[in-house]
Amino acid sequence: MLNTIGARAQKTIIPIVSKNNALVLQTDKDQRLRTIYFGEPLVDVEDYKSVYGMYRFNDGHIGITNAAYTPAGTWNMSTPAIQVKHADGNRSLELIYESHQVQQLDANVSLTSIVLKDPVYPLQVTMYYKVYANEDVFEQWTEIKHEEKKSIQLERYSSANMYFTNKDFYLTTFSGTWAKELEPDEIKLTRGIKTFESKLGTRALLLQSPNFILSFNQPASENEGSVMVGQIAWSGNFKLDFEVDGYDNLRFLSGINDYNSEYTLQKGKIFKTPSLIYTVSHNGTGLASRNLHAWARKYQVLDGEGERLTLLNNWEATYFDFDQEKLVELFKGAKELGVDLFLLDDGWFGNKHPRNAPNAGLGDWEENKKKLPDGIGYLVKEARKEGVKFGIWIEPEMVNPKSELYEKHPDWVVQQPNRPQVKMRSQLVLDLANPEVQDYVFNVVDRLFTENPDLAFIKWDCNSIVYNAYSPYLAKKGLPQSHYYVEYVQGLYKALERIRAKYKKVPMMLCAGGGGRGDYALLKYFTEFWPSDNTDPQERVYMQWNYSYFYPSITTDNHVTNWSDCSLKYKVDVACMGKLGFDIETDKLSEKEMAFCKKAIGHYHGYKNIIWHGDLYRLVSPFEAPFAALMYVNKDKSRAIFFEYLVNDRHGEMKSTSPIVLNGLHADKKYRVKEINVFNEKNVLSEKIYSGDFLMKVGLNTKLEKRKPSVVLEIQEIK
Ligand code: DGJ
Repeated sequence: MLNTIGARAQKTIIPIVSKNNALVLQTDKDQRLRTIYFGEPLVDVEDYKSVYGMYRFNDGHIGITNAAYTPAGTWNMSTPAIQVKHADGNRSLELIYESHQVQQLDANVSLTSIVLKDPVYPLQVTMYYKVYANEDVFEQWTEIKHEEKKSIQLERYSSANMYFTNKDFYLTTFSGTWAKELEPDEIKLTRGIKTFESKLGTRALLLQSPNFILSFNQPASENEGSVMVGQIAWSGNFKLDFEVDGYDNLRFLSGINDYNSEYTLQKGKIFKTPSLIYTVSHNGTGLASRNLHAWARKYQVLDGEGERLTLLNNWEATYFDFDQEKLVELFKGAKELGVDLFLLDDGWFGNKHPRNAPNAGLGDWEENKKKLPDGIGYLVKEARKEGVKFGIWIEPEMVNPKSELYEKHPDWVVQQPNRPQVKMRSQLVLDLANPEVQDYVFNVVDRLFTENPDLAFIKWDCNSIVYNAYSPYLAKKGLPQSHYYVEYVQGLYKALERIRAKYKKVPMMLCAGGGGRGDYALLKYFTEFWPSDNTDPQERVYMQWNYSYFYPSITTDNHVTNWSDCSLKYKVDVACMGKLGFDIETDKLSEKEMAFCKKAIGHYHGYKNIIWHGDLYRLVSPFEAPFAALMYVNKDKSRAIFFEYLVNDRHGEMKSTSPIVLNGLHADKKYRVKEINVFNEKNVLSEKIYSGDFLMKVGLNTKLEKRKPSVVLEIQEIK
């Protein structure tokens, strides 16, 4: 790891370097810290000294645009990274380089911290850069503190303030809504500022996602070009600002959204901003995703390098209409299919206000006596008899006004006093700024596990966004309401910290009425997430493709459902690209369909480790062709799984498809290619042996067409 170049009194150069990328900061004559370089590392560290003179970093009118953390109210004319109101009401800030240090945390991970101080007011910002060298992943955040006489107001407090000199920038952002999550838009950034943000509060990712792909000099492509793939890891309101200046340089600010979020910081207290997480690849988005996936599995996602449970869920099979006899029948289906777990969804609780529809019972986590007279313990036991584990759905951050919880604690609910309630799905959000509510959330989970130690899985849902943002707790404590959005998220993290301190590894699925959540901050506590309620497999091909830019497949739960009338084989093949689950009435399957599912699940158990822990190669994009093709390769490249899905067959054009060129194999090894997940024996591809060289230069023609719209191939090295 490189250190400081040059003497402190003159200029300090701080290169922050991963295997294939360098972010270089340098002080100017006034000791302000600037970003001078972002790109492939220079071979000779001394060369960084010559970078400054090569660019026009100063403008006669607007001054400095490449500050490493831009303050407001003094010399700066661009969007600030930080804006404060001092204890005396003054709104000016200057930040001067004070010191920095580099800690090597282990062979791969380093942490650079840089202290900036205001020369007039006792306020300090420490910028952190954590670098995961081999994965080319950077994590940036800041800590703000002060010693002023009284509290100060943080009006804006970015996590990262970046600067790029590449001139042409192509930005892909992802937005959507319920059942249409994560749809990409790529634009060429023009001068001015473009903002992508959320103000939804809880399930903040529902409309706009905090994920982005920034491509330098050319539109993002899979195997070439420099791209930054990243996310602001904050589970509440976030903001990404991309501002191109008059010299066509790009400033990028990211962090918690400042919307209604002025934060009062007491003397001596530290405000820590969330992490901006990104990887940089100089070989396109394919490598970027593989690096981000490897990082996520190793460093971020709970049990990211562990195992997962295949499951049968009852939501789409029964909705609220079930009792314990029906569930026990479904356990038999789970057993017959050969999945690991049965997941009981919404509708199992509430007695005074039974949960038979979304309008009642939420908050009353007692088994409904009519549906489940023998309780959850009985279900766990019955499932075990069938050799399957048992998991359960909860939505602990929410409440129906028609519930005993609401009757008892109306002051636990986020709502404006003196205004009508605004509900989403008949429910309101609990006030997680309140420590008592945090305790309650912890206890919902704790009670379930204490009473049912064999409970093996939790699905944690969160259906409502925040309307009428007003915290009765903050009001009671005389604290500003503008803390609410931040403290909600911090309160949620606190409850989850406690849960994970006690229940370290129990798998938990993060769900938010579909994919309105699933950020890397929450994935520290969750093993996986639900990408969307939309399980139409054709839609899922696109959606899973989009999610795959950011998340390893071990984290994305894909279920086979009755959402569309696509063939069962197509549904299963699509769901296999991730963590496989079923949400069907197994007794409605024909004998042939059941036999197919059993065999496909059997195959899946045989290759799931390649999907969960291997490298993903996206081969053909469904956005560019009438089909998608992708493959997963294990670490030593001895095994791979290939998926191909038809998404559109206008004019029967697929019949003439040319071969698909594979990737990620050893050129000089031989591989047996075998079709699996076969439903109709008549049109199976014949098993054959090819060289890796052939597969990666000529490729394979799988003869995909309307009557056979999906193909799964197992590729195995021949020794
Ligand atoms: C929304 C989720 O996305 C569904 O999977 C299901 O759990 C329902 N909530 C239950 O109310």
